[in-house]
Amino acid sequence: MTKEKGQPQAYGDESYWDNRYSQDVGSFDWYQRYGGLAPLINMYMPKTNNLLMVGCGNAVISEDMVNDGYQTIMNIDISQVVIDAMIEKYKDMPQLQYQRMDVRSLGFKDGEFDSILDKGMFDSLMCGSSAPTSAASMIKEVRRVLKPGGVYMLITYGDPRVRIPHLKSEEAPWEIKLHVLPRPGSKRAHEGTSRPITEPVSLGEDLTLGPTFKLEDPDLHYVYVCIKENVNPIAPPPEKKSSEKKSSNKKAPQKK
Ligand SMILES: C[S@@+](CC[C@H](N)C(=O)[O-])C[C@H]1O[C@@H](n2cnc3c(N)ncnc32)[C@H](O)[C@@H]1O
Repeated sequence: MTKEKGQPQAYGDESYWDNRYSQDVGSFDWYQRYGGLAPLINMYMPKTNNLLMVGCGNAVISEDMVNDGYQTIMNIDISQVVIDAMIEKYKDMPQLQYQRMDVRSLGFKDGEFDSILDKGMFDSLMCGSSAPTSAASMIKEVRRVLKPGGVYMLITYGDPRVRIPHLKSEEAPWEIKLHVLPRPGSKRAHEGTSRPITEPVSLGEDLTLGPTFKLEDPDLHYVYVCIKENVNPIAPPPEKKSSEKKSSNKKAPQKK
């Protein structure tokens, strides 16, 4: 999955994924393995978090996270074929649960998860028909099932100009941080970088990345960390009516 323009729409179709998973019975991690992402995941998602992995596919990342100490991960995918295979594969790993679900209509309660991880799922929706509508439904659902202060982490090939406009939710804005990391096996990955991946990259007003990184660099992956606002539950006291204000200035009657 690399480009949206001119892309066949298959990646957005349930039948495409069912077919693919019927043929590929092994495991495959898109873009990055857990090892490359661990510093970022560990920084934003404590191991005690109640986690949701959207569009899990047959990736090994959830298993690797459990082996690294994560306690519960609910995994969902639109393909019943892959969900059945993963339930069977991980029947002896109770920390991992699998359910068939469409990310655009999640069967979970409001605020059920501390963190949501998405590696390549949003990208496949962006390759489908009605991509902007699908993306908006997904972001609405992801925000709904996140706790206040919760984190949605998106790992994608999409640079800020093609991702930020969809991630920004108009109804309730959230803080978005961006991290950039080299694609495994790329020249950038071999050369190494002095910049730790845990250091967020600043974004210009025009959604460019400054001199260090160029947009549409095929050797980069982007990690967007969207943090749901932590609404202060303590509402300010209601304004007193003017008649009440006057009476409250009076001294309390003294007992004789
Ligand atoms: C590019 S693969 C990524 C798989 C895995 N996350 C990984 O990192 O290797 C995209 C996954 O999203 C799933 N998917 C596509 N549309 C979906 C939807 N509307 N709801 C839930 N899962 C979906 C596909 O079945 C597929 O497993």
